[in-house]
Amino acid sequence: MTAITLKDIVKRYGDGFLAVKGVSLDIADGEFVILVGPSGCGKSTLLRMIVGLEDITSGELRIGDEVVNDKAPRDRHLAMVFQNYALYPHLTVFENIAFPLRLQKGKFSEQEVRDKVEFAAKTLELQDHLQRKPANLSGGQRQRVAMGRAIVREANAFLFDEPLSNLDAKLRGQMRTEIARMQRRLGTTTVYVTHDQTEAMTLGDRVAVLRKGELQQVASPRGLYEQPVNLFVAGFIGSPPMNFLPGVVEGSTLKTPIVDIPVSSDLASRLGSRSLVIVGVRPEYFEDASLVKAPKDSAQFDVNVDVTEWLGSDLYAYIPFETNPDVAGKLEELDRDLDGEGMRTQLVVALNAESRVRDGDSASLWFDPSKAMVFDPESGENLTFDETQAREIDAQNEKDRKASLERAQARERSRAAG
Ligand SMILES: Nc1ncnc2c1ncn2[C@@H]1O[C@H](COP(=O)(O)OP(=O)(O)OP(=O)(O)O)[C@@H](O)[C@H]1O
Ligand SMILES: [Mg+2]
Repeated sequence: MTAITLKDIVKRYGDGFLAVKGVSLDIADGEFVILVGPSGCGKSTLLRMIVGLEDITSGELRIGDEVVNDKAPRDRHLAMVFQNYALYPHLTVFENIAFPLRLQKGKFSEQEVRDKVEFAAKTLELQDHLQRKPANLSGGQRQRVAMGRAIVREANAFLFDEPLSNLDAKLRGQMRTEIARMQRRLGTTTVYVTHDQTEAMTLGDRVAVLRKGELQQVASPRGLYEQPVNLFVAGFIGSPPMNFLPGVVEGSTLKTPIVDIPVSSDLASRLGSRSLVIVGVRPEYFEDASLVKAPKDSAQFDVNVDVTEWLGSDLYAYIPFETNPDVAGKLEELDRDLDGEGMRTQLVVALNAESRVRDGDSASLWFDPSKAMVFDPESGENLTFDETQAREIDAQNEKDRKASLERAQARERSRAAG
């Protein structure tokens, strides 16, 4: 059983910089947890504290039942895979994988070393490359050798720090599925750091979103996507990102620069006395009214389209709008936090690829207003957050995770038997 438990973990660096501001996180045995967030938010710091490469300023770190704050890295029995794989160029693939075993002099017989390396090589499909040198391997193969080194150590948990960021996009996709498969097969607890939200969404059983050393939300990918707790999480998860529009409450309507949204009684109670909010609508919630008939309760509107991008699977259309100076500041701040490229005063809509909307066109679009999220412009809190729904999504996710872990392990047993 290797659960990893973080309780109020704080990191203050020698120069006084507070990089991690009290993070608590329970990682279950066999779980795949992602730490994600913009550059400098403290992901690597947190990971390095878990492995023991960095002192913990305060708080408690448990691995299994044991508090390990003061344990040396080698006594924590964790394996870390870095971005630059740190392979030994003069050693063969076999010896690179065997390296951690050789370090423990005399502990393993030659036969044991061979068995362990062969098991790892089989898991990673490196059998044909064992006698080659790292320089002659592809980036993905090198990455697998680095993972092989983690496997032979039979570590209690795997820790990855942006292991794929040196690879090109295609290989990254391949390695992503490779890592997911390996983790399921071995059932080893895994903590994986990335700033890439696609990696976070596709790999993680649960994703922990960090901002400036503070945990924002820990949830399943679907939980984060459908029920983000605040503006930051909503803007960070999803590609293209969620659209944010200023919303002015006028009686029973919420006026945005593109369309007026009727305020339901539920929304009215959530809005309280606020007269200005930020409305969030994901790009894929928009439809082209000439392709898909707008249902009765939809919010329909006409726009002038600036630029379109046809991607085969979708058509993205960009629509400029006038923002409201009262929320512009907040959105600019959000954009900076998200490492954005500048204020977004344009709507991005992802339409069906069959849409005939083109650059400079006018178009009639609609979306389901019940899918819009509403945020407090000061705190960024998601006023439309549905606690019950969020819990249900995560409960379902946990059930799915256990089932797929069991399937993978049953396959493994039958492979070993046959
Ligand atoms: N040795 C150090 N001394 C002082 N500050 C540090 C030290 N190492 C990191 N920091 C600071 O701590 C913060 C978190 O750094 P960290 O490396 O954990 O970020 P990260 O989330 O991994 O970012 P990236 O995505 O760029 O790798 C940063 O602001 C960084 O400048
Ligand atoms: Mg980092």
